[in-house]
Amino acid sequence: MSKIKVVVAGVGNCCSALVQSIRYHADNPKGLIHYDLGGIKPSDILVVGAIDVDSRKVGRDLSEAIFAEPNVAPKFCEVPSTGVNVVKGPVLDGADGVLKDMIRVDDFSPIDVPSYLEDLDGDVLLCLLPTGCQKAVEFYADAALRAGYAFVNCTPARIASDNRWAESFEDRGLPLVGDDLLSQIGGTVFHMGILDFLAKRGVDITKTYQLDIGGTVEAYGVLEDFRREEKRKIKSEAIQQMLPADSKIATGTSDYVGFMKDCRTGYFYVEGKNCLGSDVIIDIYLRTHDSSNGAGTLIDVIRGVKIAIDRGIGGQLTSVSAYGFKNPPIRSSLNESMEWFRSFVKGERKR
Ligand SMILES: NC(=O)c1ccc[n+]([C@@H]2O[C@H](COP(=O)([O-])OP(=O)(O)OC[C@H]3O[C@@H](n4cnc5c(N)ncnc54)[C@H](O)[C@@H]3O)[C@@H](O)[C@H]2O)c1
Repeated sequence: MSKIKVVVAGVGNCCSALVQSIRYHADNPKGLIHYDLGGIKPSDILVVGAIDVDSRKVGRDLSEAIFAEPNVAPKFCEVPSTGVNVVKGPVLDGADGVLKDMIRVDDFSPIDVPSYLEDLDGDVLLCLLPTGCQKAVEFYADAALRAGYAFVNCTPARIASDNRWAESFEDRGLPLVGDDLLSQIGGTVFHMGILDFLAKRGVDITKTYQLDIGGTVEAYGVLEDFRREEKRKIKSEAIQQMLPADSKIATGTSDYVGFMKDCRTGYFYVEGKNCLGSDVIIDIYLRTHDSSNGAGTLIDVIRGVKIAIDRGIGGQLTSVSAYGFKNPPIRSSLNESMEWFRSFVKGERKR
């Protein structure tokens, strides 16, 4: 199996966990949804390039940059020197607003991203920029198109769910997936799972909320109104599809608590009625790590994209997007999207 050559834009917490998980899960399947995916192992993913704008990351080997501030993802395992030097990309709106408090923009001039990508001759450009930077995400999507890369948009910016972008990628025969990564066992997917279970057991759900608190740059950034709204809208739509139209829903990050670092606590409340109109109430919390939660899904998404590249399929990969993202071009239930993804891997679904 030839390696899947990935270039990462945004060496933040999720990138840190991805780089570590490729190593940690080289021969350890425990904790993954899929270890062998269509004959592809996590260790078949190779990060060949990395772009960021923060002076504490630019110019350093990726193995060091992933642990540089303001990243808070823990050291889950040792990562030896990678030989990949983090280069400076154009900032655009990547460090706007409150993100200025966290990101120290490097003084050097940005590289020419399309030429950098062409020189690396990679397969996939993985976009891990902060929430709320539409211009920067569009810039990287365009660079992927020019350099002939598949594009994975983990941010909430609309790319894979925008038909104009989808057509451009289809015209170039390049796969496109997104938008807004669905964590392996994060707040949205966990909430969907609880609601799915209750609905299958006949409970009429009337009210529900999911509020969470974390200590990452991402949790800090979404305190800013426009970022919070962008995230809340996507999370609410993902939950709304599972409920009657008149049910009351609230979702979103409610606060940043620095000492929590990479941990996120999600509070879930569900109210409904079962047989004889009796009350059913769930009031629980879930505590996980943000970074590894993202990597747990990404490791599958990247391999799904590689399968599409090998089969010569370009444009929106609806099954991979429905399985791995909160705002895919076509939404589906958790069970169905898993089924779509596995059928796609087996070659029973085109995209
Ligand atoms: N569990 C998860 O990790 C998860 C789940 C769902 C969605 N996401 C999405 O994934 C994205 C990344 O999450 P994260 O926690 O790693 O974020 P992060 O804030 O830790 O990292 C973002 C990185 O992007 C860099 N950056 C900013 N502007 C840039 C530019 N113009 N060019 C290159 N780099 C730039 C920053 O310096 C930082 O290193 C976010 O959009 C988030 O919403 C992550």
